[in-house]
Amino acid sequence: METTQSSLVATRSKEETVDLFARYVSSGKVGFFKSAGIDFVPGKREETYLFDLAGEKRVIDCHCNGGVFNLGHRNPDVINVLIQSLQELDIGNHHLISEQRATLASELARLTPGDLSYTVFGVGGGEAIDLAIKVARGYTGRDKVISARGGYHGHTGLALAAGDEKYRAPFGSMAPGFLQVPFNDINVLERVVDDDTAAILFETIPATYGIVLPDQDFFLKARELCDRRGALMIMDEVQTGLGRTGRLWGIEHYNVVPDIMVIGKGLSGGIYPITATCFKEKLEVVFHKDPFIHISTFGGAEVGCPVALKVLGISSNPAFLSHVQEMGAVFSSGFKGLQEKHPEILVGLRQLGLMMGIEMTHDYCGPLFTKAAYENGLLSVYAYNDPRVAQLLPPLIIDRPLAEEILERVDMALTGVSKILGQ
Ligand SMILES: Cc1ncc(COP(=O)(O)O)c(C=O)c1O
Repeated sequence: METTQSSLVATRSKEETVDLFARYVSSGKVGFFKSAGIDFVPGKREETYLFDLAGEKRVIDCHCNGGVFNLGHRNPDVINVLIQSLQELDIGNHHLISEQRATLASELARLTPGDLSYTVFGVGGGEAIDLAIKVARGYTGRDKVISARGGYHGHTGLALAAGDEKYRAPFGSMAPGFLQVPFNDINVLERVVDDDTAAILFETIPATYGIVLPDQDFFLKARELCDRRGALMIMDEVQTGLGRTGRLWGIEHYNVVPDIMVIGKGLSGGIYPITATCFKEKLEVVFHKDPFIHISTFGGAEVGCPVALKVLGISSNPAFLSHVQEMGAVFSSGFKGLQEKHPEILVGLRQLGLMMGIEMTHDYCGPLFTKAAYENGLLSVYAYNDPRVAQLLPPLIIDRPLAEEILERVDMALTGVSKILGQ
């Protein structure tokens, strides 16, 4: 997009923007990026690239805001749908029956695993997780919710209570009934899931915890355990959904149908925020007595529903999913070479499709890598709950030359980290 006089981007200098942001939005974030040595303010954005507000600096977006930009920045097909949508629709009234929400929900019912047939829409992922927990508690009449230590489900009320301790610590008492256990440990889960358990809640691949791949049978065993105990299984597919892993849903790799599945981030197409809590038909009973018991004014805004529909159309295309798998293979073979070259810091690649985590040897490696990657033209952010790991989440639309270029830049960044460490 050309910067014109009427543009909304680059109307201020970078310095002025940083100053205003520090004074009116977050002095902490400005301080953080300064101390991290990352001098970047996104301005223009296009396909796989983010451009600095000032000058020519350009980075390949390998963070993608956890999947928001799966289809790249400002995907023209998605934008066109929103433009068309704006000609006829607005946010709508969530109290009323809606053609757009009905259409989108029926498509989700068709595309989600098994018999997940109902959807309640939200705006953010945390809100959608909150609702998943409410549905589980409402349906089972039980309180206990078990999730993973180091997991992340958002910063809203119940999602916060289910997430890692460090997000909750400063904010006083939380909703009771939450218990965290080590991820991927079926023995511990066997001990804690009981007749008071409403639900277990897991990210299919915990992202903030460092792209941890579960054992192939973990979710299957967890499913059996839930069935035995009458607890529900909630899967957080906010990051793993919509093709990131090479299948439409990450959980498909594990042959399990959850009772409730939460979708966020990428459903927006990077353009219009919308999230979905999808659940089995039997759970809809929770809303029978009072269908207005859960309300989200902007949830499933009608103008955004066609955008999400378009995202689903693109992401569920078998050719698109094959492409993700092919690009994943480029990275898996590329990392074998990198491992031979950088054995002193690179442990390996945690990977399912284009859901990738670069595992390194020490906690200080992630932050150093993030800076070195930035200096080499890549936005790759380390995993907050395991800083040995840098997340590598490129847009799913990358082609082979760009995948190879990313590998070269990762190589240069690893060399940069080694140099700093004097290795
Ligand atoms: C796995 C997972 N679940 C839930 C959320 C919360 O989503 P939101 O930030 O839209 O509330 C996130 C956000 O990063 C996430 O990564």
